[in-house]
Amino acid sequence: MEGLLAGVLCLIVTVSAAPDPTQWITAGNCGISSGRAPDPFIVGGAEVSPMYKWPWIGSLRSSGSHICGGSLIKSTAGRYFFVTAAHCTYGSNANRLSVKIGTHFRADTSESGSMILNVNRIINNPNYRATTLENDISILVLTNSESIVESNQIRPICYASRDHYAGEVCTVIGWGTTSESGSSAARLQEASKPILSDSQCSSDLGSNNYYSNSMLCSGYDAGGVDACQGDSGGPLFCQRNGVWELVGIVSWGYGCARPGRPGVYGDCWNLRDWVRQTIDSN
Ligand code: ARG
Repeated sequence: MEGLLAGVLCLIVTVSAAPDPTQWITAGNCGISSGRAPDPFIVGGAEVSPMYKWPWIGSLRSSGSHICGGSLIKSTAGRYFFVTAAHCTYGSNANRLSVKIGTHFRADTSESGSMILNVNRIINNPNYRATTLENDISILVLTNSESIVESNQIRPICYASRDHYAGEVCTVIGWGTTSESGSSAARLQEASKPILSDSQCSSDLGSNNYYSNSMLCSGYDAGGVDACQGDSGGPLFCQRNGVWELVGIVSWGYGCARPGRPGVYGDCWNLRDWVRQTIDSN
């Protein structure tokens, strides 16, 4: 009986094997971490430990102050880009922005092994709508991105290679506030929570607010675990075939961690064509 069960499990694992490599949007050797998904607790989270276990996170700064999170990705041609939310960069000027990578401490600019890169250009998704937050994704071209040296502290995440499913439990990280009206975190926080079906998201958030074409939502019915202010732009990532994939981008919510009010994320899978085209041509 056990043998049969193991056989069936094995078959399932084999059938749902890695996606076709021609589909990959980012370079290989991405999404590697020795870390494990955190237990549920940003709101309801815990400090990332050991430090740097999610080496793709970066802090987006405006005039030197943290405003949002974001993630390092690498094109198949080997160029690094920073993915964040369009609402973080909309209306801003690239020369005010910088990105800190290899970082655990929000404010410590002398952190060993970290790097601060200037932003050369902001490429917001042309279909981003500030009124609805549809297509809330932005790609930043970094000045001197060829000076990035990967280390245990700095590595790109893999871009989503397939769609998410309802119930998939994924991790969100950031330096945002640890309660709805609380203060932002000095040290990187992590939490994990399940992605919900589009119909659940629509009924929890209102079908006139939730646009399944470019959004996904995640949370527990009872609330308690969520991203919050200052986490925007940061990654929601899921482990698939042993690597971590960027599946969502922190976008918006009704307050934070409220019961029946899941957090909303830009849907990386649905936004993939624009991402692929943007990083392959810049
Ligand atoms: N808009 C927020 C920001 O700019 C992110 C809010 C996320 N909220 C949530 N409940 N998940 O930082």
